[in-house]
Amino acid sequence: MHSQISNFLPPLHLLACPNCYAGVDEGLEPHNHLCKHCDSQFFNLDGIACWFDSAMDQKTVWEHHLAVTKQMAEQNSQMMSQALQSPFTLKSTQARVQQMHQASNQSAGAVLDLLINAGLTPKMHDMLPPQDSGLFGSYFELMHRDWAWHSFKNDDFEDENLQQFELLKSIAQKSIKDSQNIGHVLVLGGGAGRLAYEFHQHFNPKSTTVLDINPLLIQSAHQVVNRKQSIRLDEVRKYPQINVDPSFERTLKLPKNHKECENLFFMVADAYNTPFKQQQFDVIITPWFVDVVGVDMKKTMGVVHSLLKPGSTWLNFGPLLYLDKLEYAHKYHQTEVEQLLQNLNFNMIQQDSKVMPYSLSPDDKRQQHEQIWCFGATSPKQSFSELSQQTFSNAAGINLPLWSLFTHLPIPKFKIDEQTHPVLKAIVEQIDGQTSADEVALMLEGKLPEHLNPSEVVCTLILENILK
Ligand SMILES: C[S@@+](CC[C@H](N)C(=O)[O-])C[C@H]1O[C@@H](n2cnc3c(N)ncnc32)[C@H](O)[C@@H]1O
Repeated sequence: MHSQISNFLPPLHLLACPNCYAGVDEGLEPHNHLCKHCDSQFFNLDGIACWFDSAMDQKTVWEHHLAVTKQMAEQNSQMMSQALQSPFTLKSTQARVQQMHQASNQSAGAVLDLLINAGLTPKMHDMLPPQDSGLFGSYFELMHRDWAWHSFKNDDFEDENLQQFELLKSIAQKSIKDSQNIGHVLVLGGGAGRLAYEFHQHFNPKSTTVLDINPLLIQSAHQVVNRKQSIRLDEVRKYPQINVDPSFERTLKLPKNHKECENLFFMVADAYNTPFKQQQFDVIITPWFVDVVGVDMKKTMGVVHSLLKPGSTWLNFGPLLYLDKLEYAHKYHQTEVEQLLQNLNFNMIQQDSKVMPYSLSPDDKRQQHEQIWCFGATSPKQSFSELSQQTFSNAAGINLPLWSLFTHLPIPKFKIDEQTHPVLKAIVEQIDGQTSADEVALMLEGKLPEHLNPSEVVCTLILENILK
């Protein structure tokens, strides 16, 4: 544990409480990880802000998952030891299992050390399920891809991070107005942070904040970039491959051509309840994010729109590999995304698509490639209320208000007659010209069947019963 923990906070004027949206002038105390305006307490891990609307519950959940991860690692290690002792094990099998055993123990130990040294204590919680949630296992390979594979000796190995950054860079140069002079950048779902790091190194903006919900990925980036500490994290191959070892020693570290850089920050938070003030960012990057979050992309557009300054740039990067669980209608094709952007008055400036390797270890014989779509689009200059007055045309050719398509937009005030049903009346009373359907929907939280989207219910009720 570091004896003196200083905070690694993004510029304070960007920050807001994720509960009540208070900023530093309104009771938010970033250095104390506290909001005095609504009495919310957040926490930090080795100086990295972990800000959630119910932060202490979040810490309990992570500590529980850490305890489960530790238990699973011990069970796994025991199973491997048992396999080694079986009288029916061949010498060659013994050698392979021994190697995997060592590497798995090393990598599990490294993960536990990283999070425990950052300030998390493994602690089981009776109320939480005893199974591995996959929290610390999801996107695990990104730590190797971002910070280990670049140091591979083989000249044939092309660092895919750099290939990806080339595409992002070319789109950024053409779509950001003054790319030599960028203000504040936010990366949503930045993972282990390498693409954000390359962007920051190259464009040198005033600040870059990398936000992700996974504390392990953020801590790995923090140790490598801020603490300048390399991390030994061995790679274990899941399946045997011909002429490929079952495991490899790996070290996460800064690339050789690293230039000292300031103002690159990491934060653990939820992109759909961010700890930022509205309309403060000059560039928002969503790398490999919009498809895997399992959320309707209209909602992600709402988040990006709310956080960008008017006329600023959204850089999206990645495939459209939506989660299975996502509603079919929300698995938008590129053309639908373009149309949605147009409806919200975003201006598509530049786009390109390329097939690129994905998570290709230098020792891997499996070749995974994905089609990456990168675009740069500028956010609307109109105010939110002006946008709310606009309409869109639905599949039946009927014009509906834009606030019912993009539910982060405020619903304009309107009159209701006295006979209106009390439930509708209660909903309409919330509508003051500033409040969006998403905000009104908070009233319905936990009161609707799970398959119903509360914001859509609010819009439907208003459109069908009040604005007939
Ligand atoms: C496919 S990974 C991409 C990571 C990184 N952008 C990259 O290019 O390597 C998706 C990332 O989104 C993060 N994520 C998922 N849901 C999130 C949420 N609600 N808020 C913030 N990050 C989230 C995951 O933890 C994961 O790191």
